[in-house]
Amino acid sequence: MEEDVPGSQARGDVLLSVRDLTVGFGDKLILDNLSLDIMRGEILGFVGASGAGKSVLLRTILGLIHKRSGTIKLFDVDLEKATDEERLKIDMRTGMLFQHGALFSALSVLENVQVPMREYLDLPKQLMDELALLKIELVGLPRDAASKFPSELSGGMTKRAALARALALDPDIVFLDEPTSGLDPISAAEFDELVGKMRDTMGLTVYMVTHDLDSLFSVCDRVAVLGNKKVLVQGTIEDMLKSEEPWVKSYFRGKRARQLDLTARAENGMT
Ligand SMILES: Nc1ncnc2c1ncn2[C@@H]1O[C@H](COP(=O)(O)OP(=O)(O)OP(=O)(O)O)[C@@H](O)[C@H]1O
Ligand SMILES: [Mg+2]
Repeated sequence: MEEDVPGSQARGDVLLSVRDLTVGFGDKLILDNLSLDIMRGEILGFVGASGAGKSVLLRTILGLIHKRSGTIKLFDVDLEKATDEERLKIDMRTGMLFQHGALFSALSVLENVQVPMREYLDLPKQLMDELALLKIELVGLPRDAASKFPSELSGGMTKRAALARALALDPDIVFLDEPTSGLDPISAAEFDELVGKMRDTMGLTVYMVTHDLDSLFSVCDRVAVLGNKKVLVQGTIEDMLKSEEPWVKSYFRGKRARQLDLTARAENGMT
């Protein structure tokens, strides 16, 4: 299947391209002529004030919210013009971890991970069980987590289980909406490490919406900042630290960042 999707072979090519995207609800404009690229094999950290439209952008990219204008290309296919077959392939190569309601509460972890498999593949039950268990282990959950229900999981386990589900079909790209929010710093760091490892070993591309400065400094290759309905600034963490854009400056060099001593860490190359 790899060769079926144009541009899927090489690393470093543009995997997602958003151009002049405008999205609104009623008379309220949320995104106005926004453009953004994500390259294959990178972890992009996407930040912006609460309510700026980060989740709306994600949901629009995934086709859950209608855009007013602009183009969205995933794997070089314009989503608006995609045939059913192209759309299916794109959906299968795309994983998603939503900000809220990460798992189906009535299904066990194993069954949750199998949801995309049931939707897109026609596999015998035993094979699906084995595949789901592999994903559960891949994200660092114990095997006995498979039979647990979401209400029996800790926050960190829930995030890992949701990641296992996002990875169920071995996607090329995963969209993570605040995957470490609500986790203690150690669990959050472990989650980041896991995502970094997947980029390094599987060439996974990651689009991560996050408020977590630690994630941005430790695992993201590039950062994009949403503000004024557009991507205000994008670049490396070093670029963010140099930016004089007021919101970016207070976010990356404000009190919170200083408390975490992130600036010093970045300057000392200890990220
Ligand atoms: N379905 C919808 N209908 C109407 N307005 C919506 C809808 N979804 C989101 N909005 C509005 O769009 C704006 C952006 O919301 P969004 O959830 O994208 O913010 P966000 O950047 O993800 O914030 P947070 O960091 O708090 O998650 C908000 O003003 C929100 O009320
Ligand atoms: Mg959000």
